[in-house]
Amino acid sequence: PLRIAVLASGRGSNFAALLAARERGELPVEFVLVATDKAAAPVLQLAQMAGIPTMVLDPRDYADRRAYDFALFDRIGASKPDLLVLAGFMRIIDGEALKPWVGRMINIHPSLLPKYRGLHTHRRALKAGDLQHGASVHYVTAELDGGPVIAQASMPVEAGDDESTLAERLLPLEHQLLPAVVALIAAGRLALGENGIVFDQQALDQPLRW
Ligand code: GAR
Repeated sequence: PLRIAVLASGRGSNFAALLAARERGELPVEFVLVATDKAAAPVLQLAQMAGIPTMVLDPRDYADRRAYDFALFDRIGASKPDLLVLAGFMRIIDGEALKPWVGRMINIHPSLLPKYRGLHTHRRALKAGDLQHGASVHYVTAELDGGPVIAQASMPVEAGDDESTLAERLLPLEHQLLPAVVALIAAGRLALGENGIVFDQQALDQPLRW
């Protein structure tokens, strides 16, 4: 099975969605590592309860971003993952450090990219008066939240929405979107080619179950 390392900084509900999909038999993957920059991140307990190896690497123990990121990917690499999944990993990653992983690392971001790269996406969608909001899964490149978008989930913005209602309604969509994309990759139906994303023809012929 596809070997997956997850990077997360917090609650871990997207990681939990991946775990649940695997437990339902819908995601033929092996979680080889959950890595975090935050010792107190609840995602650690989720991983430990599931018997998945964890690693905490504290940025404060490193001289700068680049030193941290090289150390991080070095250790993650020791687990021999095929795919890195950023699921609520709240750090900008050094472009040189991530280079060897381009095409093997995806991120879920809570906006309809290319809109609202970076932080406070819900607030910015509201402020702009957007009628639709959503989440994107994309390949990670050196450009922050700027790599090729693989798939998106969208929903209407409703009268009376605030940041927290938007985030709350979006989350269940994220929990479908991320496992769906990982399933595509696990099935070998999706890759990052030189000119962008490549879908296997099968992916176009057979609709996904999700
Ligand atoms: C999710 O909404 C994810 O899209 C977002 O953080 C949340 C993590 O929740 N990611 C980013 O903002 C990345 N810049 P989780 O820890 O419960 O999965």
